[in-house]
Amino acid sequence: MTEIPATAPRKTSLWAKHKIFETNSIFLILGVLFVISIGGLVEIAPLFYLQSTIERVKGVRPYSPLELAGRAIYVREGCYNCHSQMIRPLRDEVERYGHYSLAAESMYDKPFQWGSKRTGPDLARVGGKYSDEWQLRHLNDPRSVVPLSIMPAYPWLATTDLKYNDIAIDMKVNRLSGVPYTDEMILNAAADLRAQINPEDPGAADVEKRYPKAIIRSFAGDPKRVTEADALIAYLQVLGTMVDFKLYDNKANLR
Ligand code: HEC
Repeated sequence: MTEIPATAPRKTSLWAKHKIFETNSIFLILGVLFVISIGGLVEIAPLFYLQSTIERVKGVRPYSPLELAGRAIYVREGCYNCHSQMIRPLRDEVERYGHYSLAAESMYDKPFQWGSKRTGPDLARVGGKYSDEWQLRHLNDPRSVVPLSIMPAYPWLATTDLKYNDIAIDMKVNRLSGVPYTDEMILNAAADLRAQINPEDPGAADVEKRYPKAIIRSFAGDPKRVTEADALIAYLQVLGTMVDFKLYDNKANLR
């Protein structure tokens, strides 16, 4: 009978190679990072190139200059600390807020405002839910329209002139990250911004041409004076209104 050895004989060459990792923590860490990064690259890199990562949906367009400026105020004031902009495909959310959010709806949001903190309601589809007057009063003094509201008041928005000298630069930066602003849009940015709050402005028709279905009206009440409230309300009123979900659901046959 042959004797069975107490330990299996080492396959010496392989063991010697493995020993480098087993006995040296720096090599082990580098090795782990290397292996994980392969997995990461395989999963993440194709998403940047696949056409189907974001399903294109009809109606989604870049923000008009006024809406874009309003979005900047939304971010500046930290509205995202209490409000999300992403309706999840769960029954309670869909019944309360409307159709669940599509990736395409925030494809021109740089950065997106999805969020997960809801001290206040989700705002992804708040556009058109209230009148401009309501929005203005609510921002000036939330308790004047919702008595038990804990939302802070933002009374300075209606009295502060919007600074929009740099709106064209803002659009250029957005274009660098993939938002399809044309040269014409950038050239006319400031004029379009002023025209959007004034239906009498000769440029108002162009705004609608460049930004289909853009709402042209004085949001905060004075068509000659662009305030921060005009911009923010223009932004709130467009949220969630770009996609026609009757068309979308028929086409995609989702229900
Ligand atoms: C401290 C948390 C908080 C912050 C910050 C906040 N909100 Fe609110 N918001 C709320 C709460 C709570 C409500 C629900 C009560 C009400 O309607 O006032 C609300 C309601 C709203 C509504 C009505 C939504 C609906 O569907 O009825 C809008 C619009 C809104 N907020 C916009 C804003 C904007 C714009 C900002 C930033 C300028 C902002 N909020 C900042 C807490 C907040």
